[in-house]
Amino acid sequence: MEGVWCGMEECHRLGLARSIGVSNFSAAKMSRLLALAAVPPAVNQVEMNVGWRQEKVREACGERGVVVAAYSPLGAHGAHWGSDAVMNSGVLHDVAATRGKTIAQVALRWLYEQGVCFVARSFNEGRMKQNMDIFDWELSDQDKAMIAGVPQRRACRGDYFVSPDGPYKSLHDLWDGEI
Ligand SMILES: NC(=O)c1ccc[n+]([C@@H]2O[C@H](COP(=O)([O-])OP(=O)(O)OC[C@H]3O[C@@H](n4cnc5c(N)ncnc54)[C@H](OP(=O)(O)O)[C@@H]3O)[C@@H](O)[C@H]2O)c1
Repeated sequence: MEGVWCGMEECHRLGLARSIGVSNFSAAKMSRLLALAAVPPAVNQVEMNVGWRQEKVREACGERGVVVAAYSPLGAHGAHWGSDAVMNSGVLHDVAATRGKTIAQVALRWLYEQGVCFVARSFNEGRMKQNMDIFDWELSDQDKAMIAGVPQRRACRGDYFVSPDGPYKSLHDLWDGEI
């Protein structure tokens, strides 16, 4: 971590990169990095959605002013490693029906209200517009209480990074227990 981050800091110093950041860092990895970094990361992009709230990572980043960017905000449904936990959520279905919004809009609005930024992917123009149309309404306290009950499960588990011969011998090692 130290060697790579020093190289990234050098890119920043030389003006080759305006900002430098990390992805998939647990709270523990973020603490390790912040202890050695001369230039702190601007952002940590992690899986985050109603089905994986990342409370520990958000706390660790928030304390040090590191922006959290949520990837797979819709649960990456359709991807081979993704999940239907967001787009097939009964809770989100009910909230969407009462608010007159789509499930995707409820999922994205929830992220926006958590104060994180997110990267939603769509190749469909209508869905891109729908995903942008979340800024002139808000979730009620009751909506938020319902969403707080959505079961939690990481979709991107990263089994392919685990090996008896590598630095991460188990998923527990890889995510520092955040699984
Ligand atoms: N740093 C990392 O390790 C990492 C890992 C994964 C992803 N990412 C980043 O995160 C971005 C987004 O995450 P993701 O692609 O994993 O998943 P996502 O944005 O949660 O889900 C994308 C899927 O949702 C569909 N979709 C989008 N808007 C919709 C809507 N309004 N209603 C219904 N379906 C909708 C898309 O289909 P259509 O195209 O047909 O609309 C696509 O199948 C990626 O582009 C990537 O840059 C980063």
